Amino acid sequence: MIEWDALYKVSLGLYVLGANDASRPVGSIVDAVMIAANKPCALALSCGNASYTKSCIEQNHKFSLSVLPKDIEPFVVANFGFQSSKNINKWDNVKYDLLNGLPVLQNALAQITAKVLTSYPLESNTVFIAEIEEAKNIRNAENLLYEDYRNYFKNDVIKSFQQYMKEKANG
Ligand SMILES: Cc1cc2nc3c(=O)[nH]c(=O)nc-3n(C[C@H](O)[C@H](O)[C@H](O)COP(=O)(O)O)c2cc1C
Repeated sequence: MIEWDALYKVSLGLYVLGANDASRPVGSIVDAVMIAANKPCALALSCGNASYTKSCIEQNHKFSLSVLPKDIEPFVVANFGFQSSKNINKWDNVKYDLLNGLPVLQNALAQITAKVLTSYPLESNTVFIAEIEEAKNIRNAENLLYEDYRNYFKNDVIKSFQQYMKEKANG
């Protein structure tokens, strides 16, 4: 038996994942990230197989992570988590810089870039093991946890997405 309430006790943060397709930056929200080794300095990232960002990582073998602060605007999570980069230029909706050619959020607590060493396909997800090329500590504050999203943040994220869709529909 698998009780999800048991698995939710494994603490995870929330991150904006960034990558590039042939012509533009793409990205999504991820929680499935861990520092996996210190030699080489490596992390593990799990992407859903339907994610466009995942297909771009498979093409370019590089990605970035922006560590989200607790006080991040809910729209950032909605923008990157509720729609696909296949149809939308998500990075146009936020302030970002390029780090080693990859998009990173300006108001992240930390910005990380990594190159893929290997990947492991599962039925629902693909797990990437990637060597960290750069890790910048931008500022010290509390980071947003997946638990925060589930406990109190999700409603605000949904509301901000509804507002954004309404504004888009009204031109
Ligand atoms: C709170 C939250 C956590 C998520 N965690 C992951 C994750 O760990 N891995 C993943 O691939 N997608 C995750 N997603 C889903 C993607 O962010 C979402 O499917 C996104 O629209 C994919 O965009 P893309 O097609 O541009 O890659 C998460 C979404 C939310 C809202």
